[in-house]
Amino acid sequence: MRGLAYFCFVSAAAYALVGMGFGIVMAASHDHTLSTAHAHLNLLGWVSMAIYGLFYHTVPAAAETRLARIHVVVATLGLWIIIPGIAMAVMGMSEGPAVIGSLLTIVGMILFAARVATMKRSLAV
Ligand code: HEM
Ligand code: HEM
Repeated sequence: MRGLAYFCFVSAAAYALVGMGFGIVMAASHDHTLSTAHAHLNLLGWVSMAIYGLFYHTVPAAAETRLARIHVVVATLGLWIIIPGIAMAVMGMSEGPAVIGSLLTIVGMILFAARVATMKRSLAV
């Protein structure tokens, strides 16, 4: 495995490690205030990024396109902004980063949807 799929899997594993570490700290401290940030780090970072990696590994032709690279960059940027953004919103600080992060995250998903939709023929093989 190489390229974009590899990047997605390495990132997903790193997010899982940080997300699980975060979960263990929350469980040990009995302070679950930031559980939504923990949940979305695992769900967008570990689960969604791993699914992106699976897709790009299964359909290598899709990975070798500009649209795919832009998708992964936008999804990564969205994640890096939405997670601290959720924590800031929960703590009553600014909601701005959560808004920007969510918009980037959904744009990332739109790009992924576009990439999948336009690879119909390859997926049928
Ligand atoms: C070492 C691994 C993990 C630990 C120790 C852990 C720990 C926790 C803790 C303490 C909470 C707060 C529960 C509460 O307030 O009721 C929580 C919430 C949550 N965690 Fe984890 N977690 C782990 C891994 C994961 C993973 C891998 C995922 C997703 C793939 C995940 C998804 C969630 C979700 C969605 C919530 C929110 C649940 C809710 O609000 O009902 N967690 N976790
Ligand atoms: C743009 C992306 C997303 C945004 C803006 C978003 C936003 C939210 C919000 C506002 C909540 C309620 C939190 C609360 O009541 O404290 C929530 C909860 C939840 N979301 Fe998301 N979400 C996103 C993506 C996802 C994805 C991709 C998944 C699953 C793969 C997911 C799974 C969940 C779950 C399981 C909960 C309930 C646990 C919790 O309250 O933390 N979300 N989300």
